[in-house]
Amino acid sequence: MKIDTESTRKAIRDFEINSAESLEQFRLTFISRKGKVAELFSKMGTIAADERAEAGKVLNELKNEAQARFDEAKQKLEASVTSVRTATDDITLQPPVRPVGSFHPLTLTLEEIKKVFFRLGFSIAEGPEIEDDFHNFTSLNFPPEHPARDMQDTFYIHKDENSIDNDLLLRTHTSPVQIRKMLEQRPPIRSIMPGRVYRNESVTYKSYFLFHQVEALYVDKNVNFAELKETLVMLAEMVFNRKVKYRLRPSFFPFTEPSLEMDIWWEQPGKEGRWLEILGAGMVHPNVLRSVDIDPEVYSGFALGMGVERMASLRYGIEDIRIFYDNDIRFLEQFQ
Ligand code: DAH
Repeated sequence: MKIDTESTRKAIRDFEINSAESLEQFRLTFISRKGKVAELFSKMGTIAADERAEAGKVLNELKNEAQARFDEAKQKLEASVTSVRTATDDITLQPPVRPVGSFHPLTLTLEEIKKVFFRLGFSIAEGPEIEDDFHNFTSLNFPPEHPARDMQDTFYIHKDENSIDNDLLLRTHTSPVQIRKMLEQRPPIRSIMPGRVYRNESVTYKSYFLFHQVEALYVDKNVNFAELKETLVMLAEMVFNRKVKYRLRPSFFPFTEPSLEMDIWWEQPGKEGRWLEILGAGMVHPNVLRSVDIDPEVYSGFALGMGVERMASLRYGIEDIRIFYDNDIRFLEQFQ
């Protein structure tokens, strides 16, 4: 049997190469391992032994011809790309814009909160998300029977039948980082503590089992309530980027005395105005200072804690907390 190379040779000569795509097409059709030439080579076995040498020579010539055509066309194409601009090029055109990602609304809000406190000379402190009972509750003046410890509110990693001292849990707030900070550094202390917190809550439009808080702690000699108030107002005005109407309502937290909650007046077009709670705060309870060996007769402090999701929802008019965690691109790209 003979191998017919003529039709392939003709096809190689006639193939039109005028672009990178057609060059690649040429390579695939003739030169590649699955191309025409390779296919012809694979028929060598069917050829009578005494004709094989001749057939091999013809096939090799064909292969070289295809390669030569490829090399020449490639060189030509490359030369035309790097050649001087033609008259139709408009050098004033903007280069194509590459799409870039955007920051998550929680990140944007946290950045705004950080800015306020950096201005006031606060630095950032962090602590673990897995805490023990001492840091999350006891040192913060929660009595042993406090309902926050209840299984319904707290995710326990380890629950000891005999002693709460051995309990391990997912922190329910960022306040334990206050304790860690005060154990590590003597006053003056000015720190904010951003981070994730966890609560055993069902998932609804307004609650989630995970969210973010920012805690702030200032401990020094003579820290007073007026400074707390000043800080809260500055915080609210910077985060919401306007003068705010606010009220400080007496409240209760085990770790502060007195304690307060801050509301701001919220008005939206077409809706009735209302008070919305934005954070909790207070003067650090003497028992908390004692638990970390700071003398409450010498030092005082204020603390505050806020939810980042809450702040972000108000800033951007978001009504369903779940959307923060969906990573739906249609939501995220609105924060470019
Ligand atoms: N830890 C509180 C919570 O999880 C928030 C809080 C309130 C923090 C008052 C504070 C504070 O530091 O002073 O709801």
